[in-house]
Amino acid sequence: MFSNAALQIESSFIRDILAVSQQPGMISLAGGMPASELLPWPQLQAQFGKLSQGDLQYSLTPGLPALREQVAKQLVTDCDISGDEIMITTGSQQGLDLITRTLINPGDKIIVEAPTFLGALQTFQASQADILAVPTSPEGPDMDALTHCLETNAVKFIYLQPNFQNPTGFSYTLARRQQLAELARRYNVLIVEDDPYGALRYEGEALPSLYSMVPEHCVRLVSFSKTVAPGLRLGWLQASSAIQMQLNKFKQVADLHSSSLNQQLLVAFLQSPDFDAHIQTLLNVYRQRCDAMHNALSDQLGDQVSWQKPQGGMFFWLNLHRDGNWKPLFDSAIRENVAYVPGAAFYFDKPSQQFARLSFSNVSAEQITQGIERLAQVFNEATV
Ligand SMILES: Cc1ncc(COP(=O)(O)O)c(C=O)c1O
Repeated sequence: MFSNAALQIESSFIRDILAVSQQPGMISLAGGMPASELLPWPQLQAQFGKLSQGDLQYSLTPGLPALREQVAKQLVTDCDISGDEIMITTGSQQGLDLITRTLINPGDKIIVEAPTFLGALQTFQASQADILAVPTSPEGPDMDALTHCLETNAVKFIYLQPNFQNPTGFSYTLARRQQLAELARRYNVLIVEDDPYGALRYEGEALPSLYSMVPEHCVRLVSFSKTVAPGLRLGWLQASSAIQMQLNKFKQVADLHSSSLNQQLLVAFLQSPDFDAHIQTLLNVYRQRCDAMHNALSDQLGDQVSWQKPQGGMFFWLNLHRDGNWKPLFDSAIRENVAYVPGAAFYFDKPSQQFARLSFSNVSAEQITQGIERLAQVFNEATV
């Protein structure tokens, strides 16, 4: 009865453990969610009164012109683009889906980092693409492996996350970005740049997007889920008009347009002084939580795991020193009321059991300390 694609997609481990991580008493370091108590409900409520009856009407497929212009003017700061280069999506997940539908026939090749975002892997698997994985590192993807892959395969696109990657929290260096831009030109290959976390930088200087370096070889996806609210289901993509024309047809097929009411609400919020203040609050709170996780890990698990402190985003990527395997520890952790995501979930093939993803965004500093204490307890019990 079901299509091959339906049978091929695996349910997301992260979505599946959401129910477990919401059990009473559980400290969840699992989901990549924004802080619930900081969702800008009062600020959005204040803007709601400015909406009108017309905002409930059908609207244009690529998004409200006012929102596209506002995004281009206010949020794309590293290159000079107009609203025409922006398409509003129903979250970045839809952006991934539209690009994949537009470009991929079964058997076409896509390069991803290992590890990478699970939602992207699901989308690519659904398209029956041939997925090729190259290892990534704190500096960015392995250039030798990437070059070899491009030398030996006809590749449709490379899926990359230059800023505070999900799941590792790694951010590419400027030199690696320049090499990637050069590679895209040399091999005439498209880069799909997924950037939902770039606006959440707590340390260091912002680096230019790949789109700003090679717009003709790039589609960039940005989300409002981490900076405003995932429940609005809004994001945007930047792409040339030739690519947008094709994407537009699949957007019509998918949902005609993203919610016009939510788009109008977002325009009003972006234009109000509340928006910058909200981002500043997020940065201050997340910076403290990131520090709290780094300190708790150093105090409790410093001799058993290693990590690189992220400069932004929501994630720590823990490397287990011993012949480590996070999978069996997971059940004990759930019994101790602390949840994380075993890193194997983020690999397309050859899953490594040696890593775990911990998120600090939707837990208080106290909960983070307590959660890491519980995790240390699990480690101690496992070693006796
Ligand atoms: C790397 C990455 N891309 C895309 C998404 C999807 O975001 P959205 O809520 O905008 O669909 C996420 C969500 O966690 C993500 O981490």
